[in-house]
Amino acid sequence: MPPMGGPGGRGRASMEPRKPKNTKAVIKRLFEYVGKYKIKVIIALTFVVLRTLSTLAASYMLRPIINNYIIPGSGTQMLGGLAMGLAVLGSIYLINIICTYGQSKLMIYVSQHSIEAIRNDLFSKVQKLPVRYYDTHSTGDMMSRFTNDVDNIGMMLDSTLVSLFSGTIQLIGTMAMMIYTNIWLTLITIFFIPIFTKAGGTIAKHSRKYYSAQQAALGSVNGYIEEMVTGQKVIKVFCHEDQCEEEFNALNQDLRDKQIKAQFFGGIMGPVMGNMSQVSYAATACIGGILCALGRFDIGGLTVFVNYSRQFSFPISEISMQVTNIFSALAGAERVFAMMDEAPEPGDVENAVAPAHIDGHVVLDHVTFGYNPDKTILKDINITAEPGQKIAFVGSTGAGKTTITNLLNRFYDIQEGSITIDGIDIKNFKRDVLRQNIAMVLQDTHLFTGTVMENIRFGRMDATDEEVIQAAKTASAHSFIMRLDKGYDTILESDGANLSQGQRQLINIARAAISKAPILVLDEATSSVDTRTERHIEHGMDRLMKNRTTFVIAHRLSTVRNADAIMVLEQGEIIERGNHEQLLAQKGRYYELYTGLKELD
Ligand SMILES: Nc1ncnc2c1ncn2[C@@H]1O[C@H](COP(=O)(O)OP(=O)(O)O)[C@@H](O)[C@H]1O
Ligand SMILES: [Mg+2]
Repeated sequence: MPPMGGPGGRGRASMEPRKPKNTKAVIKRLFEYVGKYKIKVIIALTFVVLRTLSTLAASYMLRPIINNYIIPGSGTQMLGGLAMGLAVLGSIYLINIICTYGQSKLMIYVSQHSIEAIRNDLFSKVQKLPVRYYDTHSTGDMMSRFTNDVDNIGMMLDSTLVSLFSGTIQLIGTMAMMIYTNIWLTLITIFFIPIFTKAGGTIAKHSRKYYSAQQAALGSVNGYIEEMVTGQKVIKVFCHEDQCEEEFNALNQDLRDKQIKAQFFGGIMGPVMGNMSQVSYAATACIGGILCALGRFDIGGLTVFVNYSRQFSFPISEISMQVTNIFSALAGAERVFAMMDEAPEPGDVENAVAPAHIDGHVVLDHVTFGYNPDKTILKDINITAEPGQKIAFVGSTGAGKTTITNLLNRFYDIQEGSITIDGIDIKNFKRDVLRQNIAMVLQDTHLFTGTVMENIRFGRMDATDEEVIQAAKTASAHSFIMRLDKGYDTILESDGANLSQGQRQLINIARAAISKAPILVLDEATSSVDTRTERHIEHGMDRLMKNRTTFVIAHRLSTVRNADAIMVLEQGEIIERGNHEQLLAQKGRYYELYTGLKELD
């Protein structure tokens, strides 16, 4: 399976770094994972050595068999020689089978356990990363670390390393056996080594280059497909089909060209090296034959030698090829470790408090904040909410309404001023206690794969079925849920794609309703619900807000009209505040908004 690019063509970026920046550190880190299975690795490598050496030894057995049985040549002797040859080959195959089996089983065990641990560590990091990380990194890039990069590590551990190791042993072993068999002929072979390595290295270099290019092109194509599939409706609406097809064809052609080159150089290695070894084979056979004729060498020895010299090029090409895989796996490992090393959400302060009960007295005091410290988004915000009060925010898109809610539960920390709950700075709360005390309906909803019941229970895991149904009733979600195929047991998939936007919002409200948190934040909670349904759930919402300090953001003024205080936010500043009547009397921005929207309402 080719690695998939992330959404929006972001997969491309993940393909580029093919070489690790700090190879040593990455290898050391990988060893920490593999090191746990040291004994297994050692046994596996012993199997590899055994297998390689047994093959070499078996080839050598031909020498005495030919010299002592075949050449002297009576019929029975020959048969005996053949039988011995067969017996030797048989035992070698047996050893080979056992070793290969043992070695792959062990290495697969080690690699799969290691990457399981890597995946676990990575996932647990994902749970600890601050919201800022998600706001600044693409999903595709994170996904590709979990999939491609981890898979590459696994492949390197279970097959590449073994090939590299066995290739090296084979190379050294063959060399040693050749020297042992005949030093002069070995010198001839050695003469060819630089040519082999040069050729192997050149092909591998090209194949590496075209492989990277192919991966990058593949990332672009996959990214494009993903974007076009998810954005298909928009494409249809704006009649962009033809243009998309053209763009795709261009990308696809590019991929084709690069793939042809990559495949060519990938496939050419074997034949080229094979042909070159034929040359060295011919040379050694020729000179070896002369030596035999002169009585300076034996036929058995020559047979064995030319055999070795033919095998000689395989490990070289194998090693050259594996280097590519190892580099890309190490580059992947580096990206995985880089994500693991991201700074987690800072821990709780020393002596962090976890009050058993919170009244919900919330004060924002001279709060100033910017996602980037040099670009201020919120300026000097002052808000006091008494327990049970309802504070509403209105203002145009981008005014900073959602940003205020991001600060209340410490998705982001403020730069100046303070936010206190019941007089305690939120920085001094235990983070999870703080978040447990704030029920949130986020602006962008998310439903998980699972039943409606489970999705609502997400708001409080120990809620009973009755409580879930009660919460759904509060959110006016009960009646539509009952109309679903299986009611509360209906499975929601891919973020609730089988529901309308408004229905998804109702489930989200139910999720907040089930929580017993004393503070409630509703960010455009009913923006996609029609006005009739909204009127309908107003009752439920009132019940939801009762006895809770509520911050509500709404662009429908009917929702905010009865708030205790309304804040009109423009460009990160509160430009007007007061209750509905006071603000109307001011005839300012709120009055404009209200009279403008009343007609829509
Ligand atoms: N994660 C973020 N990183 C950087 N800037 C952001 C982020 N989220 C929002 N902004 C910026 O902050 C400003 C206020 O956004 P927001 O609070 O979402 O407005 P709204 O009032 O529509 O809810 C906007 O200019 C937006 O571009
Ligand atoms: Mg918003």
